[in-house]
Amino acid sequence: MASPPSPYLLPSLILTRTFLLVLLLTQTISSAQSYSNITQGTTLTAGSSTGSWLSPSGDFAFGFYPTDAQASLFLVAIWFESTSPKAVVWSANRDAPVRSGSTLQLTSDGRLSLKDDGGNEVWSAGPANASTAAVLDSGNVVLTASGGILWQSFDLPTDTLLPGQVLGLGSDLRSQLTDSDFSDGRFELAAQTSGELQLLPLAIPSGNQYDPYWSIDTTDSGFQLVYNESGSIYFALTNGTLLNVTMASVYSTEDFFQRTRLDPDGVFRQYIYPKSGRATGSWSRKWNAVAKVPADICQDLQSDGAGSGTCGFNSYCRSGGDQSEVNCLCPPGYSFIDPERKYKGCDQDFPPICKQYDPAQFNLIPINNADWPFSDYEHYTNVNEDQCRQYCLEDCLCAVAIFWDRKECWKKKLPLSNGKLGSYIDRTALIKVSKTNYTSLLPPSGPVISVVKKERKTLIQIGAVLLGCSGFFNVIFIALIIAKIFGSPRGRSTTFQPQTSMSEFNIRVFSYKELEEATDGFKEELGRGAFGSVYKGVLSSYISTNIAVKKLDRLLRENEKEFINEVRSIGQTHHKNLVRLIGYCNEGTHRLLVYEYMRNGSLIGFLFGNIKLHWQQRVQIIFGIARGLLYLHDECSTPIIHCDIKPQNVLLDDNFVARISDFGLAKLLRADQTRTNTGIRGTRGYVAPEWFKSMAITKKVDVYSFGVMMLEIICCRKNLETEIGEEEEPVLIYWAYDCFKDGMADLLVQHDKDALADMEEVERFVKIAFWCIQEDPSLRPSMQKVTQMLEGAVEVSLPPDPSPFLTTN
Ligand SMILES: *[C@@H]1O[C@H](CO)[C@@H](O)[C@H](O)[C@H]1NC(C)=O
Ligand SMILES: *[C@@H]1O[C@H](CO)[C@@H](O)[C@H](O)[C@H]1NC(C)=O
Ligand SMILES: *[C@@H]1O[C@H](CO)[C@@H](O)[C@H](O)[C@H]1NC(C)=O
Ligand SMILES: *[C@@H]1O[C@H](CO)[C@@H](O)[C@H](O)[C@H]1NC(C)=O
Ligand SMILES: *[C@@H]1O[C@H](CO)[C@@H](O)[C@H](O)[C@H]1NC(C)=O
Ligand SMILES: *[C@@H]1O[C@H](CO)[C@@H](O)[C@H](O)[C@H]1NC(C)=O
Repeated sequence: MASPPSPYLLPSLILTRTFLLVLLLTQTISSAQSYSNITQGTTLTAGSSTGSWLSPSGDFAFGFYPTDAQASLFLVAIWFESTSPKAVVWSANRDAPVRSGSTLQLTSDGRLSLKDDGGNEVWSAGPANASTAAVLDSGNVVLTASGGILWQSFDLPTDTLLPGQVLGLGSDLRSQLTDSDFSDGRFELAAQTSGELQLLPLAIPSGNQYDPYWSIDTTDSGFQLVYNESGSIYFALTNGTLLNVTMASVYSTEDFFQRTRLDPDGVFRQYIYPKSGRATGSWSRKWNAVAKVPADICQDLQSDGAGSGTCGFNSYCRSGGDQSEVNCLCPPGYSFIDPERKYKGCDQDFPPICKQYDPAQFNLIPINNADWPFSDYEHYTNVNEDQCRQYCLEDCLCAVAIFWDRKECWKKKLPLSNGKLGSYIDRTALIKVSKTNYTSLLPPSGPVISVVKKERKTLIQIGAVLLGCSGFFNVIFIALIIAKIFGSPRGRSTTFQPQTSMSEFNIRVFSYKELEEATDGFKEELGRGAFGSVYKGVLSSYISTNIAVKKLDRLLRENEKEFINEVRSIGQTHHKNLVRLIGYCNEGTHRLLVYEYMRNGSLIGFLFGNIKLHWQQRVQIIFGIARGLLYLHDECSTPIIHCDIKPQNVLLDDNFVARISDFGLAKLLRADQTRTNTGIRGTRGYVAPEWFKSMAITKKVDVYSFGVMMLEIICCRKNLETEIGEEEEPVLIYWAYDCFKDGMADLLVQHDKDALADMEEVERFVKIAFWCIQEDPSLRPSMQKVTQMLEGAVEVSLPPDPSPFLTTN
């Protein structure tokens, strides 16, 4: 909870309630002199050219404000007329907008009367007998008679306060429901009659108040919330003390339009908009949020009695930076019930699971720094993470397990409430998802930019054919060896004995028999790659360590010493984003490598199938791969070019951290193959163009493949669809560039709500990817530069078109 700001004393003037009131009234009247009076009988009609009255300066308008693009429904509202966008600051009928043809009139008996299109009065204002109405330049609408104010909109605020407006005890601001739905929302700023100023979540539709998530407590001496004409916002106490509400600087009302609003996300924000013709520094001409309370609503809102928290049930809240909007997100395996109304929460993508529950059908996906603090129904202590997972998996009621402090485990049931994600949470949420249909994201089945599509069809076909013939692809791949770039590795001992234990490098020498036993006779094949097959195994001499055993069958046999050397250099690599080599076997014709086992398998299983990773998880994976590659290129003792970066070669560990596999193997292949395919141009898989030209092979080939893969991870789509029949799919990298170039980057992630909510980052990432896939290797950044750009340490400039076919017009 935010603590109340310390008192701010107005030195000489101790204001009393009455004095303040008098002061306020005289100010209002004095500024009321310049208005254009609205006389009795004057009428506005919704949807017509006479839809509103302007204030004398033209800054504010009062009248019918359309609530939708079709202008079929209207609010009676006051709004900033001369800003872009316009901003509604008050409305009379937010819960019951009226149709075109409705009228607003200052009646002959001196009231403001709203009649719907059927002629029935649905709202009216003023006690009657007003001779005139007026829209003031302060944004206040008043009804007056013989110079006195009978009624003013400032006394009945909706969700906004303007300079000159006060919120007295017993009054409140109520947020609107969403940015596009003006009806009563879920949050309230109340100046309680007890003297407290509080922000509270409300139950909708009834509107009862839950515990406040922010307050200024004054021991019965609060008086009113003031937004004064100079732009200061303070809570005035009865004894004259003024307490700051936000700690923002004061912006001059001469230079800026300004307003404070209880936004639909529950945050009370101050906005400023530079007036034209004023020297307002570098402020852009939009509504800039400059201050807010509370500082972090995700963290502060904790309604433990009932209620969903900041976001809807089953969702979680992630605070944006600075003044930006709160992010409500669904955990993996859940989607928004209504993406336009996120507060309605998220629903599991799989059906209710307790009937015929089979734990084997489910998986737990970890999200670090996440918690749902109030939905637990079981608590275990002194358990490890595996047990915690097990307990939740075996229990059909368990939707999420929370693991903390390496020993505490809570089981949570639906609906989850008060979900939050942030570095201030030191626990891991394990989210249960169905293995079979977990479809929180669908791959973009993209509308294709048709002009481009035609030109590139040939290319797509070449690509599809090439990759379709996997044999041919493999031949090319295996044929391509890097020889020149590796200098003579440092520190290689010529007296090295192949059969010693290599313990100084922490890698073990296994006998073939040992590995045969560990893999139960090479029974469970995990995968098959260019180098041979991989099998699952268990080492029983350890405490049941799972391993992956790779049988190499395409190796050059002549040079045993080179094999040992290469294995040794692989064994020397230690990085959290690389799959660790545990040991090897080199016995007769048998050459095997033993790796740690990655339970979640390869990234490919989480990109293009039913199970998709969340945008934030994909971002983390991109970071991980980049760091792993940077290590291989620049940071390990013998630089390693991977030569085969693709999603199949990125494995995911228990925490979904990306681990690069198969590195260092390219050198183990035959070195005497010649490149016979220099005639091939324009093929795009993950293979950099220089493979098909007579160009030196450098680290930049990995950068190219990384760029392609990065786009695949962003879009959850394969670069090339390998089915020859599916020629309608454009090549991802070109399609992506065209979308980006045409300002339609959102098409790349069009079904991915979390990515769509984060378009700034998506665009930054695709720009980096386009730099990586430049045709000219020298234009591609190094992995060092790539990581710097990803981390935001280096600005990403606009990338040139990566296409080798630059269009002629
Ligand atoms: C508007 O009405 C007020 C009295 O209600 C009067 O003093 C003022 O002069 C009028 N202004 C105009 C522009 O008619
Ligand atoms: C309006 O004026 C009439 C006559 O001047 C008076 O009888 C009536 O009470 C007034 N109404 C209000 C609400 O002030
Ligand atoms: C508004 O409040 C600030 C700070 O309390 C004060 O310095 C300023 O004079 C006030 N302005 C007006 C117009 O009352
Ligand atoms: C006014 O009241 C507040 C809260 O009760 C107190 O902290 C403050 O010292 C008082 N100020 C004066 C001038 O009495
Ligand atoms: C309150 O805000 C004003 C500006 O509005 C600032 O000058 C003053 O230092 C603040 N007081 C405290 C106690 O932070
Ligand atoms: C998941 O599968 C079940 C039955 O197999 C089906 O009823 C349900 O609609 C599927 N859900 C999604 C989101 O595909």
